[in-house]
Amino acid sequence: CGDDDEGFDIKNAPTGPIVLGFSQVGSESGWRLANTKSIQKAAEYRDIQLRFDNAEGDQERQIAALQSYIDARVSVIAFSPVVESGWDGVLGRARDAGIPVVLTDRLIDSKDESLYVCSIGAEFVSEGNLAALYLGHDYVAAKRPIKVVEILGTPDSTPTKQRSEGFAATAAKEKKLQVVDQETGNWSKAGGAAAMRKLLRRNPDLDAVFAQNDEMGLGAVPVLEEAGREPGNKTRIVTVDATKAGLQGLVDGKLNYVVECSPVIGNLLMDVVVDLFHGGSVNKRIASEKAVFNKQSAADALPDRPY
Ligand code: AHR
Repeated sequence: CGDDDEGFDIKNAPTGPIVLGFSQVGSESGWRLANTKSIQKAAEYRDIQLRFDNAEGDQERQIAALQSYIDARVSVIAFSPVVESGWDGVLGRARDAGIPVVLTDRLIDSKDESLYVCSIGAEFVSEGNLAALYLGHDYVAAKRPIKVVEILGTPDSTPTKQRSEGFAATAAKEKKLQVVDQETGNWSKAGGAAAMRKLLRRNPDLDAVFAQNDEMGLGAVPVLEEAGREPGNKTRIVTVDATKAGLQGLVDGKLNYVVECSPVIGNLLMDVVVDLFHGGSVNKRIASEKAVFNKQSAADALPDRPY
């Protein structure tokens, strides 16, 4: 590289510090805590100054945090949106200020793709597909439709909508699984338990549960046990995330399958932040890793699981 017009001009290269303003959804689950840790550690290792705010599930608070990053003229803004709608105003202001925005984990429903430069995260539809595929395998010999109830995450969030969509699409293809009812559990163990109580009351003959994260699936376990429904056996359960607690649930025989959604996206994010800071181009979509665990693979993975 030299000083010519076509090459990279080292004299005009931006100098540090690189400042990243990051707004996190909340601290609703083990997955979220691991995600926060991954981002904080990666920023520290890469010497990126991180301004971090936890929105505690509140969109207004998240918008206020993004506005404060715009006002402070940070180098890059990243955030994991609490809900999908209602971002055009603040993201338009970030774009007008020339601050690139990266979506992490979740998406927004705006048609205007110029509001963000890149999104990094899991393919939630495919997680729902996998959950239905693996659960469906257990019922290939069934002679009747299998009644599945779904415990949903928070309303209007990308994983809630897309995991449901993916599960329904594969269930419709496989033809055995029938989603008969849904109830929100808000990603928490207590929420999962409360949802399971309602679902059991309304569907005393249910066969299986799709809980959209580990916490909610584990919250459903004692409720099913109290009702004599033998979770992991008579009532099969599939969840998403693959936290330590979820893998332990598999090893204990209380859950049947867990679809992995990796929260460890800190390094992917910092790579993008550094590229954007130096004016480089980045891919519009960067997908994180996934796998599906059963009892055996969970036992193998558990000792080294960091979260
Ligand atoms: O957006 C990812 C989801 O949010 C995780 O699956 C869930 O545990 C979390 O709270």
